[in-house]
Amino acid sequence: MGCFSCFDSKEDEKLNPQKDRDDSNRKQPHLTAPSNISRLSSGADRLKTRSTNCSKREFLGIKDAPDVQIAAHTFTFRELAAATNNFKPESFIGEGGFGRVYKGQLPSGQVVAVKQLDRNGLQGNREFLVEVLMLSLLHHPNLVSLIGYCADGDQRLLVYEFMPLGSLEDHLHDLPPDKEPLDWNTRMTIASGAAKGLEHLHDKANPPVIYRDFKSSNILLKDNFFPKLSDFGLAKLGPTGDKSHVSTRVMGTYGYCAPEYAMTGQLTVKSDVYSFGVVFLELITGRKAIDSTKPQGEQNLVAWVINLLISFL
Ligand SMILES: Nc1ncnc2c1ncn2[C@@H]1O[C@H](COP(=O)(O)OP(=O)(O)OP(=O)(O)O)[C@@H](O)[C@H]1O
Ligand SMILES: [Mg+2]
Repeated sequence: MGCFSCFDSKEDEKLNPQKDRDDSNRKQPHLTAPSNISRLSSGADRLKTRSTNCSKREFLGIKDAPDVQIAAHTFTFRELAAATNNFKPESFIGEGGFGRVYKGQLPSGQVVAVKQLDRNGLQGNREFLVEVLMLSLLHHPNLVSLIGYCADGDQRLLVYEFMPLGSLEDHLHDLPPDKEPLDWNTRMTIASGAAKGLEHLHDKANPPVIYRDFKSSNILLKDNFFPKLSDFGLAKLGPTGDKSHVSTRVMGTYGYCAPEYAMTGQLTVKSDVYSFGVVFLELITGRKAIDSTKPQGEQNLVAWVINLLISFL
């Protein structure tokens, strides 16, 4: 495991032991999302802020890994403030669990997306570290590129290639009246590209990487709707050797999380395949993974589709 040892599953187990999980969870019907899914990893209190004058390897906790090259550039906070016009509202793109995202331009002219960790937010330093490490090691056309990061004082920012068409979610749900729905070919091309990104994580990366956050808002779109997976803060190394799974705290997003993972905490690459299936259903039905505005029985997309199939039999 070498270079990744600081991110293995043991820490998760220690932080939230799930081994003696209540059996009542197991009795839940498969498609109800168990309440133990967290979307947060509030690492701020676990990983103490390190001095920013340490090397990149020390900062990432991988100083004992001679073969890891962290290609990402380090930015100062001042440089990113300049790139985003002081994080002006006009530069604001959107906001997720990690914090706010701004459009910016580097002195080279390169347009970037700058994600700023919300220091009062729920997701934290640990996700920041995992994101930097994973994206520094994983490179594929269907994975978003990390250009650099900033760890100035207590500021934590990530700088990505800018994805001009936003997320798949933006093109599937709650479209403004002037926005055309995606055509069928584009939907299939997006599914195929996203699957290639996932295949790279599962079958090409060594050890395999389990993404854990496959969902339509994390599939970002470049020109011509070319899809790239983003947000690797929840990613985990997959099982190695003869192990069938890694035991972890259950993390992910309601509606996308594989039921067997949610119930047992046992994570395999198949957990991502389940989430891929949910996104694929979103693509072909146009429905959200979870839609609380729908009547009971239709709110969970997977449950709705299964009931529909049963009614055809
Ligand atoms: N590299 C990027 N280029 C362009 N827009 C981006 C980029 N990264 C994120 N965004 C946009 O910023 C917004 C927030 O993204 P973010 O990933 O923080 O949250 P999310 O995916 O909606 O939620 P979550 O925190 O659950 O992942 C989204 O609208 C997303 O499309
Ligand atoms: Mg995201």
